[in-house]
Amino acid sequence: MNGKPEGETVLLTYGTFDLFHVGHLRLLKRLSALGDKLIVGCSTDEFNGGKGKTTAIPYAHRVEILEACRYVDQVIPEENWAQKRDDVQRYGVSLFAMGDDWTGKFDDLQDLCDVLYLPRTENISTTELKALIQSMRAGPSV
Ligand code: CTP
Repeated sequence: MNGKPEGETVLLTYGTFDLFHVGHLRLLKRLSALGDKLIVGCSTDEFNGGKGKTTAIPYAHRVEILEACRYVDQVIPEENWAQKRDDVQRYGVSLFAMGDDWTGKFDDLQDLCDVLYLPRTENISTTELKALIQSMRAGPSV
């Protein structure tokens, strides 16, 4: 079995969490309030590379930041798309949750646990932060 304490509610979420921002923080805070233990799957640089995605912050640093977050109890690597079913069973997960940009994408896990999509924090994302930094580096337009 998974060895979790009797009655403990385990939550699981995944993400890249690059340039950790308040949208990430609020999602983790809201999730942690829904159960006893929050596990975060942090996507590795190799997994991101396979998706054509490059991060500003390397995997080891993203993990270090997540582990320091008071709402996070455990960080595991996200290395491929297929591991979610295994992880849900391995860690005795009762609630799988993501931001609502993923709505419907993981409904196939509903035979194993509850699946929830939480509203994203508006007007912030890693993509927008990268664009903002880029425009700041370019300097004021004349
Ligand atoms: N998230 C959120 N609110 C935001 C941004 C992200 O709730 N404003 C959530 C996502 O829905 C996801 C988790 O945080 O469940 C990790 O998201 P991630 O993709 O790492 O962050 P983004 O800022 O969305 O990154 P990108 O712009 O690269 O997609």
